[in-house]
Amino acid sequence: MTCFPFSFSRKGGPNRGGGFDVDDEVSGIQNVRLFSYKELRIATEDFRPANKIGEGVFGSVFKGRLKDGKIAAIKVLSAESRQGVKEFLTEINVISEIEHENLVELYGCCVEENHRILVYNYLENNSLAQTLLGGSHSNVYFNWRTRCKICIGVARGLSFLHEEVRPHIVHRDIKASNILLDRDLSPKISDFGLAKLIPPNMTHVSTRVAGTIGYLAPEYAIRGQLTRKADIYSFGVLLVEIVSGRCNTNTRLPIGEQYLLERTWELYEQKELVGLVDAALNGEFDAEQACKFLKIGLLCTQDAPKLRPSMSTVVKMLTGEMEVDDIQITKPGLISDFMDLKVRDTQKAMPEINNTSYNISSGSDNLDNSTLSSGTTAGTFTFTAPDDGSI
Ligand SMILES: Nc1ncnc2c1ncn2[C@@H]1O[C@H](COP(=O)(O)OP(=O)(O)OP(=O)(O)O)[C@@H](O)[C@H]1O
Ligand SMILES: [Mg+2]
Repeated sequence: MTCFPFSFSRKGGPNRGGGFDVDDEVSGIQNVRLFSYKELRIATEDFRPANKIGEGVFGSVFKGRLKDGKIAAIKVLSAESRQGVKEFLTEINVISEIEHENLVELYGCCVEENHRILVYNYLENNSLAQTLLGGSHSNVYFNWRTRCKICIGVARGLSFLHEEVRPHIVHRDIKASNILLDRDLSPKISDFGLAKLIPPNMTHVSTRVAGTIGYLAPEYAIRGQLTRKADIYSFGVLLVEIVSGRCNTNTRLPIGEQYLLERTWELYEQKELVGLVDAALNGEFDAEQACKFLKIGLLCTQDAPKLRPSMSTVVKMLTGEMEVDDIQITKPGLISDFMDLKVRDTQKAMPEINNTSYNISSGSDNLDNSTLSSGTTAGTFTFTAPDDGSI
């Protein structure tokens, strides 16, 4: 567990919200702005349903105007995801120190009484899930240049979390709904560090949204092996989604086309990758670059985690600093294989993703070489990861 120097100073001045004395609870939290519950209630007009902008596994997100006039996304964590004040603030302290142009900024939080609320910078253009992959509901047009900017921005943000932040952060939930877009359609990764804010027995992986399973690296989904390579797999899926403009899973399509990665591999083998590029671009894209991006997506989703490139290498490939053509690509770890397995193996003790519970404990510095054990029972599986604080 990470330790912090215990000298208390708050970004936003003293907490006048009442409820409990934060100073008694935590004396070592720096850089965290504490909001009173009252301020957030006023900001969201008493958490008015009309101000609700979304809901995830951890709770609801409201749009609100803070006292200083800033617009914020206010995430009210649900009862199950509540953590003790000290643990909560300790993790918040870590997150709020992380700054990067491709990561959502955390303004602060509220820890009054039973409330656990996160206050983020509000992003005007919602998430990639709603805009690019949300069907006809959005009027945002993603031309090829914008898509390139998004892919490279997300890769940079993730590379920063994986390789520059100490201790490293494995996001664990890279997916289209966690990529938010600002006014200029620049991407910001949200929810990083969130996995450590929830009690260890609560799953962080949402299976509520169709297709979420499609982002999970097979070794993570089946054996609970969590390393940076699992994030890289999810990034690869996202990359293919951005180029193709479709979700990783679409059961309304003819069988054989339902799973995006499976289809991508098929077209790659037929040397027809260009056929996967989003028709909404009306042919206005750089075909060579688009195929390169799809190949990088395939490199990231290879079945063997070791073969997947690091995120800094991915950035170099996407920006053209590194060649992709000479690298051999092996078959992706396919979610449909996993589904088949699930169907065939229902009698056996397969981990049931919907009810997955994770139990993580600690120890080394290299997550990618970490030994994770998974004790599987039907319904739940538990794994133990050496903790370098980076999960
Ligand atoms: N900072 C933000 N600015 C603007 N909209 C946001 C912001 N944070 C979240 N949202 C909106 O709220 C929705 C819900 O977010 P939340 O993170 O709770 O759930 P999710 O990402 O959809 O799913 P999951 O809980 O599985 O991660 C998002 O999809 C997005 O539309
Ligand atoms: Mg989210």
